[in-house]
Amino acid sequence: MRQGFLGANFEALAELWNRFHPEKYRVDASLLIQNTVGSPTFDWGASCIEMRDDEPIGFVAVKRSPASLYRHPDKDQYHLTALAYNDAETGLESMAYVKRILRNRGASRLVFGEDTRHFWPGCPAECAKLGMFLMVQGFEEGGEVVDLERDLQGYRYEGVVPEGDEFRRLDGKDLPSLRSFLSTEFPGRWQYDTLNKVEAEGPSTVFGLLQNGNVKGFALLQNASAKLPIGGAIWRSDLGDNWAALGPIGIAKEIRGGGHGGALLGRALQQMAEEGARRTIIDWTTLVDFYGKFGFEPSRRYQSLAMAFE
Ligand SMILES: CC(C)(COP(=O)(O)OP(=O)(O)OC[C@H]1O[C@@H](n2cnc3c(N)ncnc32)[C@H](O)[C@@H]1OP(=O)(O)O)[C@@H](O)C(=O)NCCC(=O)NCCS
Repeated sequence: MRQGFLGANFEALAELWNRFHPEKYRVDASLLIQNTVGSPTFDWGASCIEMRDDEPIGFVAVKRSPASLYRHPDKDQYHLTALAYNDAETGLESMAYVKRILRNRGASRLVFGEDTRHFWPGCPAECAKLGMFLMVQGFEEGGEVVDLERDLQGYRYEGVVPEGDEFRRLDGKDLPSLRSFLSTEFPGRWQYDTLNKVEAEGPSTVFGLLQNGNVKGFALLQNASAKLPIGGAIWRSDLGDNWAALGPIGIAKEIRGGGHGGALLGRALQQMAEEGARRTIIDWTTLVDFYGKFGFEPSRRYQSLAMAFE
């Protein structure tokens, strides 16, 4: 029997997820709630749970395009936020249902992950079964992205700091400058995510690069105190005690290529290390060389996947 997510038993759905995915992608019920029904773009009509004997045996969670939240080119694009099933036949039936609904609505594309409050920036390389299932469903491969990790114990930034650069966690007085910086430099998802985090956890969740008191760069920092774990922080159970996450990170276009971004990253990592960070994740990136200079190595690989509707 098929049902919607209203009143779903998220403990049982998390168990199903954890049986389906490798150990390093473990989630708990609260994270599943946060990134599905707790997310503003969750698609109640297209998402479904397959039940047998009062137990979930499969589910598919879908989200709408973020076009209603921030600048995004395609309002008819949908996202396959998550799926898990006990047997492939159940997965096939759920996907047939989801595709029928989306096709009837005039959907343009279905992207695996990459949604607002995502789990997946692509299909994880370790989930070969899932990858094959999605290819059979008509998903096509884009590029590869990775998560990077290192242990920050004892880390100190020994590199050059450009003159005039100030680095610190932001406070309430910096908010107007942060808002103006984000709306000029990163007006899409990064602005949305960062301001949401600031609202939930306060301005100190942002580590800033300031020049003459103005924000010129930012890095979002998370640790076990995060009320709203996003990005790499969702794999906290695999990262272990004293985990930390960095990203997004970015600086103003006019100062790129002058050593400011490297100094921002180095100082942000030092700050986290001083606060006790151990295993630290930088998620969803292709900049392996940039972060590699700071000792980060790929820990998870994902294949971007999307399918077009005719
Ligand atoms: C990524 C970013 C923060 C780097 O800042 P920056 O000030 O331009 O970089 P720096 O001048 O400090 O460079 C530091 C080092 O990283 C290297 N580097 C910088 N950007 C790189 C890139 N895109 N790819 C590979 N290496 C890069 C530089 O060559 C330099 O190496 P060196 O120390 O051997 O000379 C900045 O370009 C930016 O804001 N980009 C847009 C947002 C973004 O892509 N963020 C990261 C997403 S995961």
